[in-house]
Amino acid sequence: MESYEQPVLSVRHLNKQYGSGCVNCRASRGGRLIKNYCPVCSTVYACRDISFEVQAGEILGVVGESGSGKSTLMQCLYFDQSVSSGEAYINSYKSGRENIFMASTQQQRYIRNLMMGKVYQNPVMSLKMNFSAIGNIADKLIAAGNRNVREMEARGKELLEHVNIPVYRVKEAPGNFSGGMQQRVQIAKALSNNPPLLLLDEVTTGLDLSVQASVLDLIKKIQRQLQISMVIVSHDLGVIRMLADRTVVMLDGRIIEQGLTDQILEDPQHSYTQQLVQSLLI
Ligand SMILES: Nc1ncnc2c1ncn2[C@@H]1O[C@H](COP(=O)(O)OP(=O)(O)O)[C@@H](O)[C@H]1O
Ligand SMILES: [Mg+2]
Ligand SMILES: [Zn+2]
Repeated sequence: MESYEQPVLSVRHLNKQYGSGCVNCRASRGGRLIKNYCPVCSTVYACRDISFEVQAGEILGVVGESGSGKSTLMQCLYFDQSVSSGEAYINSYKSGRENIFMASTQQQRYIRNLMMGKVYQNPVMSLKMNFSAIGNIADKLIAAGNRNVREMEARGKELLEHVNIPVYRVKEAPGNFSGGMQQRVQIAKALSNNPPLLLLDEVTTGLDLSVQASVLDLIKKIQRQLQISMVIVSHDLGVIRMLADRTVVMLDGRIIEQGLTDQILEDPQHSYTQQLVQSLLI
């Protein structure tokens, strides 16, 4: 039965380049690039022919070294960046039949507010640090059309409680919170409109190991309870190993390997992935 279900997210041939390209990099289809970069015209090919699917209730990991294109991919999916070409379909938007990259700005705002949540490495990207924690959540609820203050307050408290922010601190500004708490407020905000899809970009990078573990545990708990689909980006294969059912490995803007996380860990095919797996063992 599950195999007949449509993927929650389906990405097809996504390309994103910074710069317009030149004879050198266009003619050779990237053959004369240094990693993802054209030395002649300085164009960066940040994402190249990216295709993958995310199934219902699944966590997809995206792993790769710094500069491999992970954040650009997430920015494109969340409309923070426009794609150069490619398609993406979300099953809850027009039954997964319309390329979301072709949707109007207004439609994209709607998709972003109701069908996705995003959690950033740097909480400043999604939180107003001098607003209350609960006010930050109300922001996203209002963006989705909510107007009832009492309802929003109840929902905000419920969400913050769910991510283990004590009730007596919900009126405090996240600027006063520790790094781990700020990430938990971001997660609560991202979940506020019950989106089917959560995008997480290096959310534990830079946190102390014990704090990192508690945030990862929270993500796992949320995924189990809500059965929400997630795309989790990290340069750290250890993080991906803890969370992801399936994994995509990126290098220089390309997907070089994808499959079940267990399989990739046990039997990595690409030499870069083999290096990554080896570094976990040391
Ligand atoms: N706004 C931008 N303008 C030009 N190049 C960019 C921009 N953003 C990212 N890049 C380049 O795109 C490539 C991919 O970056 P990024 O997606 O941030 O990688 P990752 O998240 O895997 O570290 C890098 O070479 C980076 O320098
Ligand atoms: Mg990044
Ligand atoms: Zn060029």
